[in-house]
Amino acid sequence: MTKPFLEVLSGRKQAVPPIWMMRQAGRYLPEYRELRARAGSFLDLCFTPEYAAEVTLQPIRRFSFDAAIIFSDILVIPHALGRSVRFEAGEGPRLDPLDTPEKIATLASRADFGKLEPVFAALRRVRQELDDKTALIGFCGAPWTVATYMVAGHGTPDQAPARMLAYRHPDAFEELVEVLVQNSIQYLVSQLKAGADALQIFDTWAGVLPPREFARWSIGPAHRIVEGVRQQVPDAKIIGFPRGAGGLLPAYVDATGVDAVSIDWAAEPSLIRERVQNRVAVQGNLDPLALIAGGAALDRAIDDVLENYASGRLIFNLGHGILPETPISHVEQMIKRVRAYKP
Ligand code: CP3
Repeated sequence: MTKPFLEVLSGRKQAVPPIWMMRQAGRYLPEYRELRARAGSFLDLCFTPEYAAEVTLQPIRRFSFDAAIIFSDILVIPHALGRSVRFEAGEGPRLDPLDTPEKIATLASRADFGKLEPVFAALRRVRQELDDKTALIGFCGAPWTVATYMVAGHGTPDQAPARMLAYRHPDAFEELVEVLVQNSIQYLVSQLKAGADALQIFDTWAGVLPPREFARWSIGPAHRIVEGVRQQVPDAKIIGFPRGAGGLLPAYVDATGVDAVSIDWAAEPSLIRERVQNRVAVQGNLDPLALIAGGAALDRAIDDVLENYASGRLIFNLGHGILPETPISHVEQMIKRVRAYKP
Protein backbone atom coordinates (compact mmCIF):
# COMPACT_ATOMS: atom_id res chain seq x y z
CA MET A 1 0.00 0.00 0.00
CA THR A 2 1.28 3.46 -0.79
CA LYS A 3 1.67 6.30 1.69
CA PRO A 4 0.02 9.49 0.41
CA PHE A 5 2.51 11.65 2.35
CA LEU A 6 5.46 9.96 0.59
CA GLU A 7 3.70 10.09 -2.77
CA VAL A 8 3.59 13.88 -2.55
CA LEU A 9 7.26 14.04 -1.53
CA SER A 10 8.07 11.85 -4.54
CA GLY A 11 6.45 14.30 -6.92
CA ARG A 12 2.99 12.77 -7.16
CA LYS A 13 0.26 15.17 -6.11
CA GLN A 14 -2.73 13.62 -4.31
CA ALA A 15 -6.33 14.67 -5.04
CA VAL A 16 -6.90 15.00 -1.29
CA PRO A 17 -3.76 16.36 0.38
CA PRO A 18 -2.22 14.21 3.13
CA ILE A 19 -2.30 15.91 6.54
CA TRP A 20 -0.30 16.01 9.77
CA MET A 21 0.54 18.79 12.27
CA MET A 22 3.83 20.08 13.57
CA ARG A 23 3.95 19.41 17.34
CA GLN A 24 1.01 17.02 16.94
CA ALA A 25 2.15 15.14 20.05
CA GLY A 26 1.88 17.68 22.82
CA ARG A 27 0.15 19.49 25.59
CA TYR A 28 -3.23 20.04 23.84
CA LEU A 29 -3.79 16.26 24.29
CA PRO A 30 -4.87 15.02 27.76
CA GLU A 31 -3.20 11.64 27.12
CA TYR A 32 0.09 13.48 26.45
CA ARG A 33 -0.19 15.52 29.67
CA GLU A 34 -0.88 12.36 31.61
CA LEU A 35 2.20 10.52 30.32
CA ARG A 36 4.33 13.68 30.54
CA ALA A 37 3.50 13.90 34.27
CA ARG A 38 4.40 10.24 34.79
CA ALA A 39 7.70 10.48 32.87
CA GLY A 40 9.26 13.08 35.16
CA SER A 41 11.40 15.42 33.08
CA PHE A 42 10.84 16.27 29.43
CA LEU A 43 14.15 14.62 28.46
CA ASP A 44 13.11 11.47 30.34
CA LEU A 45 10.03 11.41 28.15
CA CYS A 46 12.17 11.79 25.01
CA PHE A 47 14.74 9.18 26.10
CA THR A 48 12.40 6.41 27.33
CA PRO A 49 11.63 4.53 24.09
CA GLU A 50 8.38 3.09 25.38
CA TYR A 51 7.09 6.56 26.36
CA ALA A 52 8.42 8.38 23.30
CA ALA A 53 6.84 5.77 21.01
CA GLU A 54 3.53 5.95 22.88
CA VAL A 55 3.39 9.76 22.71
CA THR A 56 4.29 9.64 18.99
CA LEU A 57 1.36 7.29 18.35
CA GLN A 58 -1.25 9.16 20.45
CA PRO A 59 -2.22 11.68 17.74
CA ILE A 60 -2.20 8.92 15.09
CA ARG A 61 -4.70 6.82 17.05
CA ARG A 62 -6.91 9.80 17.76
CA PHE A 63 -6.85 11.51 14.34
CA SER A 64 -5.41 9.02 11.78
CA PHE A 65 -2.95 11.57 10.44
CA ASP A 66 -1.04 10.58 7.30
CA ALA A 67 2.30 10.91 9.08
CA ALA A 68 3.69 10.41 12.58
CA ILE A 69 6.68 12.49 13.69
CA ILE A 70 9.00 10.87 16.19
CA PHE A 71 8.67 12.47 19.61
CA SER A 72 11.95 14.10 20.55
CA ASP A 73 13.40 17.61 20.45
CA ILE A 74 15.93 19.53 18.38
CA LEU A 75 18.04 20.11 21.52
CA VAL A 76 18.97 16.43 21.95
CA ILE A 77 21.97 17.18 19.70
CA PRO A 78 23.53 19.75 22.08
CA HIS A 79 22.75 17.28 24.88
CA ALA A 80 24.67 14.53 23.02
CA LEU A 81 27.51 17.01 22.43
CA GLY A 82 27.87 17.17 26.20
CA ARG A 83 26.19 20.53 26.77
CA SER A 84 23.83 20.88 29.70
CA VAL A 85 20.19 21.01 28.45
CA ARG A 86 17.21 21.35 30.77
CA PHE A 87 13.54 22.12 30.18
CA GLU A 88 12.01 24.24 32.91
CA ALA A 89 8.23 23.98 33.23
CA GLY A 90 6.60 26.99 31.60
CA GLU A 91 9.96 28.55 30.73
CA GLY A 92 11.30 26.53 27.82
CA PRO A 93 14.81 25.21 27.35
CA ARG A 94 17.82 26.24 29.44
CA LEU A 95 21.39 25.52 28.27
CA ASP A 96 24.83 26.64 29.43
CA PRO A 97 25.53 29.58 27.10
CA LEU A 98 28.21 28.95 24.46
CA ASP A 99 28.75 32.63 23.81
CA THR A 100 32.47 33.23 23.20
CA PRO A 101 35.02 31.90 20.66
CA GLU A 102 36.96 30.46 23.62
CA LYS A 103 33.98 28.39 24.77
CA ILE A 104 33.20 27.27 21.21
CA ALA A 105 36.81 26.04 20.88
CA THR A 106 36.14 23.58 23.73
CA LEU A 107 33.05 22.04 22.07
CA ALA A 108 33.27 18.31 21.29
CA SER A 109 33.35 17.66 17.56
CA ARG A 110 31.43 14.40 17.74
CA ALA A 111 28.22 13.78 19.62
CA ASP A 112 27.90 10.74 21.88
CA PHE A 113 25.43 8.82 19.75
CA GLY A 114 24.94 6.33 22.54
CA LYS A 115 22.90 9.05 24.26
CA LEU A 116 20.61 9.17 21.22
CA GLU A 117 20.11 5.42 21.04
CA PRO A 118 16.70 5.70 22.81
CA VAL A 119 15.46 7.90 19.93
CA PHE A 120 16.40 5.19 17.43
CA ALA A 121 14.80 2.54 19.66
CA ALA A 122 11.60 4.62 19.78
CA LEU A 123 11.61 4.91 15.97
CA ARG A 124 11.90 1.12 15.62
CA ARG A 125 8.97 0.65 18.00
CA VAL A 126 6.77 3.16 16.19
CA ARG A 127 7.69 1.66 12.82
CA GLN A 128 6.39 -1.70 14.01
CA GLU A 129 3.10 -0.30 15.19
CA LEU A 130 2.23 1.99 12.28
CA ASP A 131 -0.03 0.72 9.53
CA ASP A 132 1.20 0.69 5.94
CA LYS A 133 -0.38 3.96 4.86
CA THR A 134 1.05 6.14 7.63
CA ALA A 135 4.53 7.58 7.13
CA LEU A 136 7.09 8.13 9.87
CA ILE A 137 9.09 11.37 10.00
CA GLY A 138 12.48 11.82 11.65
CA PHE A 139 13.87 15.30 12.24
CA CYS A 140 16.62 17.55 13.47
CA GLY A 141 16.96 21.23 14.16
CA ALA A 142 18.77 23.25 11.51
CA PRO A 143 22.27 24.26 12.66
CA TRP A 144 21.34 27.96 12.77
CA THR A 145 18.30 27.39 15.00
CA VAL A 146 20.08 24.93 17.30
CA ALA A 147 23.02 27.33 17.53
CA THR A 148 20.73 30.20 18.59
CA TYR A 149 19.71 28.23 21.70
CA MET A 150 23.26 27.01 22.36
CA VAL A 151 24.69 30.54 22.20
CA ALA A 152 22.02 32.35 24.24
CA GLY A 153 21.29 29.43 26.56
CA HIS A 154 17.54 30.02 26.14
CA GLY A 155 15.00 31.28 23.61
CA THR A 156 14.87 35.02 22.87
CA PRO A 157 12.42 37.06 20.77
CA ASP A 158 14.89 37.75 17.93
CA GLN A 159 17.90 35.52 18.68
CA ALA A 160 20.11 38.61 18.96
CA PRO A 161 22.91 36.83 20.89
CA ALA A 162 23.62 34.35 18.05
CA ARG A 163 23.24 37.02 15.36
CA MET A 164 25.73 39.22 17.19
CA LEU A 165 28.22 36.40 17.71
CA ALA A 166 27.98 35.51 14.00
CA TYR A 167 28.83 39.14 13.05
CA ARG A 168 31.63 39.54 15.58
CA HIS A 169 33.21 36.11 15.37
CA PRO A 170 32.16 34.50 12.08
CA ASP A 171 34.98 31.94 12.16
CA ALA A 172 34.08 30.65 15.62
CA PHE A 173 30.40 30.64 14.71
CA GLU A 174 31.18 28.71 11.52
CA GLU A 175 33.01 26.14 13.64
CA LEU A 176 29.92 25.67 15.81
CA VAL A 177 27.63 25.41 12.78
CA GLU A 178 29.92 22.88 11.10
CA VAL A 179 29.91 20.65 14.19
CA LEU A 180 26.11 20.75 14.06
CA VAL A 181 26.07 19.99 10.30
CA GLN A 182 28.26 16.90 10.65
CA ASN A 183 26.43 15.50 13.67
CA SER A 184 23.01 16.25 12.17
CA ILE A 185 23.94 14.24 9.06
CA GLN A 186 24.80 11.21 11.15
CA TYR A 187 21.74 11.68 13.37
CA LEU A 188 19.39 11.86 10.38
CA VAL A 189 20.95 8.88 8.60
CA SER A 190 20.58 6.85 11.81
CA GLN A 191 16.92 7.84 12.01
CA LEU A 192 16.35 6.59 8.45
CA LYS A 193 18.07 3.31 9.35
CA ALA A 194 15.83 2.99 12.42
CA GLY A 195 12.70 3.26 10.27
CA ALA A 196 11.98 6.90 9.40
CA ASP A 197 10.50 7.31 5.89
CA ALA A 198 11.36 11.00 5.54
CA LEU A 199 13.14 13.78 7.40
CA GLN A 200 12.38 17.37 8.34
CA ILE A 201 14.95 20.07 9.14
CA PHE A 202 13.40 22.67 11.49
CA ASP A 203 14.90 26.13 10.97
CA THR A 204 12.46 27.95 13.21
CA TRP A 205 14.63 31.06 13.46
CA ALA A 206 15.66 31.43 9.79
CA GLY A 207 13.42 34.49 9.46
CA VAL A 208 15.51 36.75 11.71
CA LEU A 209 18.45 36.70 9.25
CA PRO A 210 19.15 39.29 6.53
CA PRO A 211 19.68 37.76 3.06
CA ARG A 212 23.48 37.45 3.22
CA GLU A 213 23.37 35.82 6.67
CA PHE A 214 20.43 33.63 5.59
CA ALA A 215 22.53 32.32 2.68
CA ARG A 216 25.46 31.56 4.96
CA TRP A 217 23.77 30.20 8.08
CA SER A 218 20.48 28.73 6.85
CA ILE A 219 20.87 27.76 3.17
CA GLY A 220 24.52 26.62 3.30
CA PRO A 221 24.20 24.26 6.26
CA ALA A 222 20.86 22.84 5.01
CA HIS A 223 22.49 22.15 1.64
CA ARG A 224 25.45 20.39 3.30
CA ILE A 225 23.09 18.28 5.41
CA VAL A 226 20.97 17.28 2.39
CA GLU A 227 24.12 16.34 0.43
CA GLY A 228 25.66 14.50 3.38
CA VAL A 229 22.51 12.46 4.05
CA ARG A 230 22.04 11.62 0.35
CA GLN A 231 25.67 10.48 0.11
CA GLN A 232 24.68 7.67 2.45
CA VAL A 233 20.99 7.32 1.53
CA PRO A 234 20.65 8.54 -2.07
CA ASP A 235 16.86 8.63 -2.21
CA ALA A 236 16.33 10.23 1.23
CA LYS A 237 13.24 12.45 1.25
CA ILE A 238 13.86 15.73 3.06
CA ILE A 239 11.58 18.64 4.01
CA GLY A 240 13.08 22.01 4.93
CA PHE A 241 11.29 24.47 7.23
CA PRO A 242 13.04 27.85 7.07
CA ARG A 243 10.32 29.64 9.03
CA GLY A 244 9.87 33.28 8.08
CA ALA A 245 12.09 33.03 4.98
CA GLY A 246 9.46 34.84 2.86
CA GLY A 247 10.93 36.02 -0.43
CA LEU A 248 14.10 34.02 0.20
CA LEU A 249 12.21 30.69 -0.10
CA PRO A 250 12.90 30.21 -3.84
CA ALA A 251 16.64 30.61 -3.20
CA TYR A 252 16.43 28.13 -0.31
CA VAL A 253 14.68 25.57 -2.51
CA ASP A 254 17.11 26.01 -5.41
CA ALA A 255 20.26 25.82 -3.34
CA THR A 256 19.45 23.15 -0.74
CA GLY A 257 17.95 20.37 -2.89
CA VAL A 258 15.11 19.62 -0.44
CA ASP A 259 12.07 17.68 -1.71
CA ALA A 260 9.59 19.99 0.03
CA VAL A 261 9.41 23.14 2.08
CA SER A 262 7.15 23.78 5.02
CA ILE A 263 5.80 27.33 4.77
CA ASP A 264 4.46 29.60 7.49
CA TRP A 265 1.10 31.38 7.28
CA ALA A 266 2.54 34.70 6.11
CA ALA A 267 3.79 33.19 2.81
CA GLU A 268 2.62 34.96 -0.33
CA PRO A 269 0.55 32.49 -2.41
CA SER A 270 1.56 33.50 -5.94
CA LEU A 271 5.26 33.54 -5.04
CA ILE A 272 4.89 30.07 -3.53
CA ARG A 273 2.93 28.67 -6.47
CA GLU A 274 5.09 30.15 -9.21
CA ARG A 275 8.56 29.88 -7.72
CA VAL A 276 8.39 27.15 -5.07
CA GLN A 277 5.55 24.70 -5.71
CA ASN A 278 6.53 24.43 -9.37
CA ARG A 279 9.78 22.79 -8.21
CA VAL A 280 9.06 21.00 -4.93
CA ALA A 281 6.15 19.99 -2.73
CA VAL A 282 4.76 22.51 -0.27
CA GLN A 283 3.71 21.78 3.30
CA GLY A 284 1.57 24.12 5.34
CA ASN A 285 0.33 26.61 6.22
CA LEU A 286 -2.73 27.13 8.43
CA ASP A 287 -2.31 29.79 11.12
CA PRO A 288 -2.30 27.92 14.48
CA LEU A 289 -4.40 30.78 15.90
CA ALA A 290 -7.17 30.07 13.36
CA LEU A 291 -7.16 26.52 14.73
CA ILE A 292 -7.71 27.91 18.23
CA ALA A 293 -10.43 30.29 17.02
CA GLY A 294 -12.43 27.53 15.30
CA GLY A 295 -15.85 28.09 13.72
CA ALA A 296 -16.29 29.97 10.46
CA ALA A 297 -12.89 31.65 10.77
CA LEU A 298 -11.23 28.23 10.83
CA ASP A 299 -13.24 26.97 7.85
CA ARG A 300 -12.27 30.06 5.87
CA ALA A 301 -8.58 29.71 6.76
CA ILE A 302 -8.59 26.00 5.78
CA ASP A 303 -10.29 26.81 2.47
CA ASP A 304 -7.68 29.48 1.77
CA VAL A 305 -4.85 26.96 2.15
CA LEU A 306 -6.66 24.48 -0.10
CA GLU A 307 -7.54 27.11 -2.71
CA ASN A 308 -4.01 28.46 -2.73
CA TYR A 309 -2.08 25.21 -2.91
CA ALA A 310 -4.17 22.05 -3.35
CA SER A 311 -4.00 22.24 -7.15
CA GLY A 312 -0.29 21.37 -6.80
CA ARG A 313 1.74 19.11 -4.55
CA LEU A 314 0.49 19.88 -1.04
CA ILE A 315 0.90 18.32 2.39
CA PHE A 316 -1.66 20.03 4.63
CA ASN A 317 -0.12 21.24 7.90
CA LEU A 318 0.03 24.26 10.16
CA GLY A 319 2.39 27.17 9.52
CA HIS A 320 4.09 26.32 12.85
CA GLY A 321 3.40 24.04 15.82
CA ILE A 322 -0.05 23.53 17.35
CA LEU A 323 -0.48 25.56 20.55
CA PRO A 324 -1.33 23.93 23.89
CA GLU A 325 -4.66 25.79 24.27
CA THR A 326 -6.07 24.37 21.00
CA PRO A 327 -9.45 22.58 21.42
CA ILE A 328 -9.36 19.00 20.16
CA SER A 329 -12.73 19.47 18.44
CA HIS A 330 -11.15 22.11 16.21
CA VAL A 331 -8.46 19.66 15.12
CA GLU A 332 -11.26 17.24 14.22
CA GLN A 333 -13.09 19.97 12.31
CA MET A 334 -9.90 20.69 10.32
CA ILE A 335 -9.23 17.06 9.41
CA LYS A 336 -12.82 16.49 8.35
CA ARG A 337 -12.83 19.53 6.09
CA VAL A 338 -9.46 18.77 4.48
CA ARG A 339 -10.40 15.14 3.83
CA ALA A 340 -13.71 16.23 2.26
CA TYR A 341 -11.83 18.42 -0.23
CA LYS A 342 -13.01 18.12 -3.82
CA PRO A 343 -10.79 19.68 -6.47
O1 CP3 B 1 6.15 17.73 16.30
C1 CP3 B 1 6.12 16.82 17.18
O2 CP3 B 1 5.07 16.41 17.69
C2 CP3 B 1 7.44 16.16 17.56
C3 CP3 B 1 8.07 16.68 18.72
C4 CP3 B 1 8.83 18.00 18.72
C5 CP3 B 1 9.04 18.71 19.93
N1 CP3 B 1 9.88 19.75 19.67
C6 CP3 B 1 8.48 18.33 21.23
C7 CP3 B 1 8.42 19.34 22.31
C8 CP3 B 1 9.50 18.69 17.70
C9 CP3 B 1 9.54 18.42 16.20
C10 CP3 B 1 10.16 19.80 18.32
C11 CP3 B 1 11.01 20.75 17.59
C12 CP3 B 1 11.54 21.93 18.27
N2 CP3 B 1 11.98 22.05 19.56
C13 CP3 B 1 11.76 23.18 17.63
C14 CP3 B 1 11.53 23.46 16.17
C15 CP3 B 1 10.09 23.58 15.82
C16 CP3 B 1 9.32 24.66 16.52
O3 CP3 B 1 8.29 24.33 17.11
O4 CP3 B 1 9.74 25.82 16.45
C17 CP3 B 1 12.28 24.06 18.59
C18 CP3 B 1 12.67 25.51 18.37
C19 CP3 B 1 12.44 23.32 19.82
C20 CP3 B 1 13.02 23.80 21.10
C21 CP3 B 1 12.02 23.75 22.18
N3 CP3 B 1 11.54 22.59 22.77
C22 CP3 B 1 11.37 24.85 22.80
C23 CP3 B 1 11.59 26.31 22.45
C24 CP3 B 1 10.52 24.32 23.77
C25 CP3 B 1 9.69 25.08 24.77
C26 CP3 B 1 8.49 25.69 24.14
C27 CP3 B 1 7.30 24.82 24.39
O5 CP3 B 1 6.53 24.60 23.43
O6 CP3 B 1 7.13 24.42 25.54
C28 CP3 B 1 10.60 22.90 23.70
C29 CP3 B 1 9.86 21.92 24.52
C30 CP3 B 1 9.03 20.93 23.79
N4 CP3 B 1 9.42 20.19 22.69
C31 CP3 B 1 7.70 20.50 24.13
C32 CP3 B 1 7.33 19.53 23.21
C33 CP3 B 1 6.04 18.76 23.18
C34 CP3 B 1 6.91 21.01 25.32
C35 CP3 B 1 7.52 20.51 26.59
C36 CP3 B 1 6.54 19.91 27.56
O7 CP3 B 1 5.68 19.10 27.21
O8 CP3 B 1 6.68 20.23 28.75
